[in-house]
Amino acid sequence: MKKKVIATMMAAMLTFSLCACGSSSSSSSSSEGDTGESAATEAAAESSDSGEVANKDKPLVWFNRQPSNSSTGELDMTALAYNEDTYYVGFDANQGAELQGTMVMDYIEANIDTIDRNGDGIIGYVLAIGDIGHNDSIARTRGVRSALGTGVETDGEIDSDPTGTNTDGSSSIVQDAEVTINGQTYIIRELASQEMKNSAGTTWDAATAGNAIGTWSSSFGEQIDIVVSNNDGMGMSMFNAWSNENGVPTFGYDANSDAVAAIAEGYGGTINQHADVQAYLTFRVIRNALDGVDIDTGIGTEDDAGNVLPDDTYVYNEEERSYYALNVAVTAENYTEFTDSTKINDSVANQLDESAHATKSVWLDIYNASDNFLGSTYQPLLQSYDDLLNLDVEYIGGDGQTESNITNRLGNPSQYDAFAINMVKTDNAASYTSILEQ
Ligand code: BGC
Ligand code: CA
Repeated sequence: MKKKVIATMMAAMLTFSLCACGSSSSSSSSSEGDTGESAATEAAAESSDSGEVANKDKPLVWFNRQPSNSSTGELDMTALAYNEDTYYVGFDANQGAELQGTMVMDYIEANIDTIDRNGDGIIGYVLAIGDIGHNDSIARTRGVRSALGTGVETDGEIDSDPTGTNTDGSSSIVQDAEVTINGQTYIIRELASQEMKNSAGTTWDAATAGNAIGTWSSSFGEQIDIVVSNNDGMGMSMFNAWSNENGVPTFGYDANSDAVAAIAEGYGGTINQHADVQAYLTFRVIRNALDGVDIDTGIGTEDDAGNVLPDDTYVYNEEERSYYALNVAVTAENYTEFTDSTKINDSVANQLDESAHATKSVWLDIYNASDNFLGSTYQPLLQSYDDLLNLDVEYIGGDGQTESNITNRLGNPSQYDAFAINMVKTDNAASYTSILEQ
């Protein structure tokens, strides 16, 4: 009995939908009698009868800041699996962190005869920390401490807290490491580390890092043999403020063009997090969801324009619904291959055909309009790929401090076909999804 009612209702709906199609001039031919349509396209067609696709059902990609608990790092699966077309795009933080640590350790070994500037037998480094509540920043701090042997483990995890000043080696957050190179034994010590957050609350703050190196160098400058930073923005600020002039190798992360160029002047090295691949994936997963095609299209499987990513540039973790780009170390040996951080990846540089992939509109925010990496590397890449993938994107730049500064500008989500979100704080996914629920 109940079944029959539903069947009757469906017949009525079908009649209605055919009528609706018949009366609209352009879309009727493809919808009528076409059995080859994907479920997503059908769902879209159905719901457009009653208006539009509900905002909560639209493709949603989180990027650069993975929804997760800022104290424990636990992934926020509610946000990551918000709807069928939700994904995260970032990079492999552990692989990159290990590379960064190894790059610094390799440098020490290769330059052991000159690295100990004051000859006290201690190789001293200072560390600029980006954001103590951001899993990517935490991973980098751990990666450096792990490779240099200065990390202290609690419950199987290396402590990632800042030490403050530790010139005497008494901190309990880190430990002195002992290394023997060419028959001689040295101590490696983390002399100081600090989260580079300004008084307004902006993290990864380059200016704060520039001030910190000023303070550190004026009180124990001759002990600093190496400068390490969670990113290039802070690293370059310290390099320009002090280490370049004093010949102290400085290591960052991101491979922004200015940092890569500085390698010629003595910047120690950086890590390329394959922003070209991340920016592409950010829009590609949206494009695929909107087209109702397999999510791997143009990623691991060549698309109709010939785009496919090299498989050594990313990994996909289905359970975490996350795409992670792989990292590459950039040093004096290979930096000439990485001089333009805004160059798109040659393997995915073909424009999609507008007749098969109609222009769609996307709302995207960058959590901090003045972030070095996102502003000088990631956004220019996004702006190249949006054209290739026929996406009309509205870019919103946040203040890096308050989520509401951004969410206030998502006043009318119904205007967009999809959303790409870069949060201020990794815990705050619900501030966005609650808007899509309305
Ligand atoms: C970058 C940092 C940047 C941060 C923003 C990281 O992946 O390495 O430079 O400040 O993203 O969330
Ligand atoms: Ca020394």
